[in-house]
Amino acid sequence: MSDIEKIKEDILSCTLEDAESVEAFRIKYIGSKGLVKSLFKEMKNVAPEERRSFGQKLNELKELAENKVNEAKSKNAQQDKSSDSSFDITRPADDINIGSRHPVSIVMNQMIEIFRTIGFSISEGPEIEDDWHNFSALNIPADHPARDMQDTFFLSKDPDTVLRTHTSSVQVRVMENTKPPIRTISPGRVYRNETISARAHCIFHQVEGLFIDTNVSFADLKQTLYYFAQKMFGKETKIRFRPSYFPFTEPSAEMDISCFFCKSEGCNICKHTGWVEIGGCGMVDPNVLENCKIDPDKYTGFAFGMGVERIAMLKYKINDIRLFFDNDIRFLKQFSSII
Ligand code: PHE
Repeated sequence: MSDIEKIKEDILSCTLEDAESVEAFRIKYIGSKGLVKSLFKEMKNVAPEERRSFGQKLNELKELAENKVNEAKSKNAQQDKSSDSSFDITRPADDINIGSRHPVSIVMNQMIEIFRTIGFSISEGPEIEDDWHNFSALNIPADHPARDMQDTFFLSKDPDTVLRTHTSSVQVRVMENTKPPIRTISPGRVYRNETISARAHCIFHQVEGLFIDTNVSFADLKQTLYYFAQKMFGKETKIRFRPSYFPFTEPSAEMDISCFFCKSEGCNICKHTGWVEIGGCGMVDPNVLENCKIDPDKYTGFAFGMGVERIAMLKYKINDIRLFFDNDIRFLKQFSSII
């Protein structure tokens, strides 16, 4: 019994600094030829009435030694980690792969920013529209041939519900809910039942604009779009208007910009005309104002609509609209330097 007490004191006082001293300690006390084992062998020499308490003491001793070894091992493992010389805290961090913006988002954001700086607010609306907001309020009644201008996705269950064919529907919503003056743009995705080709897709994006106030004239429309064209395509850009037809504007026009690839000399992009079309525009038809409960005798306004993919194609010389929707990383990566 006194041997056990002695060994217990030795165990408690001993310090285990490193892996080697831990191993030496383990072998000495609890190894297969260690002290604890040899004391167990003494059991048969102990008087039967003391055997029980002797065994208990021995077990305690064994546990004490085992705990000491385990504690020392986990302490050493922690120290090893923090002093690991291969971990260099001065090394620069790994690159973070931040990807790139989609070219449609890049151009849409640029367009929004240009109009925002001249006082246009941004309006959004639903992509699934009703007939009134997409057509009827815009002076396109159900039996009017102008509906053929936009091949539409109707829901067969409910022909009153369409995937919007333009974001003019958002402008109707704004006119219904706001009093003039109104100066807003509506960027967003639109849908047309088009055959998909290099130049047309069934999904694309628009930025449409609306300005309603007293005494708004066609001169204001021209100046606003001229400002936009110069900001978007460069100071030397010129614009021209060609008479056109839209049911919701009168007079209506298509707007062209001078071809900035060939400086109007003639190239493939401008089909050797020196001009490229970027959108439609016109003075809001009085019927549309009336439909939206705005007095056409008091207010006038202009509206315009441009395709985002079309502008992105011109700006970045992209020759196939399908590339925007293929999600090919090799195409998308090329825009990583543009924010
Ligand atoms: N909404 C027309 C379209 O999508 C574009 C447009 C808007 C034309 C406003 C004139 C005025 O084709």
